[in-house]
Amino acid sequence: MPVQPETSRAPTADDFVIDQGWAGYGAEDHAIWRRLFERQSKLLPGRACRDYLDGFAKLGVAADGIPDFERLSDVLDRATGWRIVAVPGLVPDAVFFQHLAQRRFPATNWIRRPEQMDYLQEPDVFHDVMGHVPVLMHPVFADYMQAYGRGGLKALRLGALTKLARLYWYTVEFGLIRTAEGLRIYGSGIVSSHKETTYCLESPRPKRIAFDLLRVMRTDYRIDDLQDVYFVIDDFDQLFEATGPDFTSYYDALRHLSDIAPGELVANDRVIEI
Ligand code: PHE
Ligand code: FE
Repeated sequence: MPVQPETSRAPTADDFVIDQGWAGYGAEDHAIWRRLFERQSKLLPGRACRDYLDGFAKLGVAADGIPDFERLSDVLDRATGWRIVAVPGLVPDAVFFQHLAQRRFPATNWIRRPEQMDYLQEPDVFHDVMGHVPVLMHPVFADYMQAYGRGGLKALRLGALTKLARLYWYTVEFGLIRTAEGLRIYGSGIVSSHKETTYCLESPRPKRIAFDLLRVMRTDYRIDDLQDVYFVIDDFDQLFEATGPDFTSYYDALRHLSDIAPGELVANDRVIEI
């Protein structure tokens, strides 16, 4: 449970950090992790991007069972200065952003049940760790996530959170990347999902559109099913550079632009064929 602040000051990131309770996981919990880990290990080569796979390979501590966040953080910290902290499920937006701005990724500690192997609407520890941590091993992506945290605090002040949350959704969670070998995945919501890992690359149903910052921030998303649209970047540098400018004027412009439904195409979309 979150620790209640003693005074009426605004909550800070530290208030929500809990102990992971690693010793409390049972054999069944670790077995579920291993099933998920082995299943995705077979599927991701050739589908996830090189940077994800490199990060994944360096996280050997995650192969045996649910990793201890402290040990995992030591590996991650040496690579990019990020650490994983345990939080009780979803935390207030400001708290989430404060963590990212301090290069701490808030991860939940619960693991799905055997009957939830295929789809979850709320992140569990497998999604949070195997989805997010491998890319945080990459220096540019690591900096992007920190910048996102700072940007989140600003978006809260400017009343622009809905727009900025879409950027997170369509990059960090469901991003695709174009490489010389073809389309690849870097989004955490995809790499932690057995079904979506093949669907996003192979199904004729979803749209795949070249990344465009304002277009992304206008696009609604669905949390209840496989995505109807994916946005495709060329590399992490493109993402970092496109999001570098001050968003204040973008948010002003967005107030006059209509939202776009997930599967809808609009003028100037660069559709990427598979
Ligand atoms: N540049 C953005 C701003 O001024 C912050 C940001 C950086 C947002 C990276 C998202 C990703 O608000
Ligand atoms: Fe996530």
